[in-house]
Amino acid sequence: MPNPAEAVMPVASLKGVTKKIGSKTLVSDLTLDIPPGQIFGFLGPNGAGKTTTIRMMVGLISISRGDIMICGHSIKDHYEEAIAQVGAIVENPEMYKFLTGYQNLRQYARMVPGVTKARIQEVVELVGLSQRIHDKVKSYSLGMRQRLGVAQALLHRPKLLILDEPTNGLDPQGIRELRDYLRQLCRTEGTTVFVSSHLLSEMELMCDSVAIIQNGRLIDVKQLKAVGDMIIPAGETFFEVDNPEAALALIAGGLMKEGGVAVQASREEIAELNAKLVGGGVKVYSIKALSRSLEDQFLEITGGEGIG
Ligand SMILES: Nc1ncnc2c1ncn2[C@@H]1O[C@H](COP(=O)(O)OP(=O)(O)OP(=O)(O)O)[C@@H](O)[C@H]1O
Ligand SMILES: [Mg+2]
Repeated sequence: MPNPAEAVMPVASLKGVTKKIGSKTLVSDLTLDIPPGQIFGFLGPNGAGKTTTIRMMVGLISISRGDIMICGHSIKDHYEEAIAQVGAIVENPEMYKFLTGYQNLRQYARMVPGVTKARIQEVVELVGLSQRIHDKVKSYSLGMRQRLGVAQALLHRPKLLILDEPTNGLDPQGIRELRDYLRQLCRTEGTTVFVSSHLLSEMELMCDSVAIIQNGRLIDVKQLKAVGDMIIPAGETFFEVDNPEAALALIAGGLMKEGGVAVQASREEIAELNAKLVGGGVKVYSIKALSRSLEDQFLEITGGEGIG
């Protein structure tokens, strides 16, 4: 019998975490649970305290007050046990530019017990770097370097992968691919991903939940709407129907998703579209409308101070 308490144990727990440098409080009394098996976003404007928090989570800087538990181990008191569960890219990952990606991973694997060649192959495939893994790192684009960094962070099968602003400098295609392989990682290896960003639109597409931080304080934690494995972009309405193809033919500009059709629609249009669907012989099981985007809500919460 699995222990139910264990099943819901957060992968990471921040308990009243505070960071002071001199008289300045960078992070203030931050309490946050990161549940397992999620992509968890950490969102805040420039200077909010994201990197500072992450640096405390991986033990790069001390915690002034409070504690951080990783899989139940205190990063303060049981650093080795706690950090063994973490893979992270905080600043630019250090790579040997004159070695190939593969040689870099081999180098790193030597320092970590139990990393097999098969595991190296596995992470390389996961991050989509198979084609270029035997090229020298100096010939890599930013996106490829970042993939290599993620591959390295994953070699020891961490329970928690921490990425500080991983989409910085990536083009839209790169961002989409990152999103895809993080999702895959979450699904296939059960890895929890904690990812920071100052871009709401990105977090909405990537994350299951998002914690919002501003001026070193936690403002809110939000679940993002999901249907099965799929996130509905904010501002859209999702019609859950018996026949998505027939529904799509009736809804101009709609997008077919698993179990239904998503469309950008005003309040009145939702009613009209519903009538159209029903009139067209499509069974409508539910209508999920996200009337306000997370961005609107964020601006409301933070007093419209803007972000990033
Ligand atoms: N070593 C330090 N000494 C003093 N203040 C610092 C130090 N490091 C960071 N800060 C300050 O702490 C605050 C939080 O910085 P942090 O780098 O954590 O923000 P961030 O949310 O990661 O921002 P960004 O989106 O720009 O990366 C900022 O006001 C920053 O100037
Ligand atoms: Mg930062």
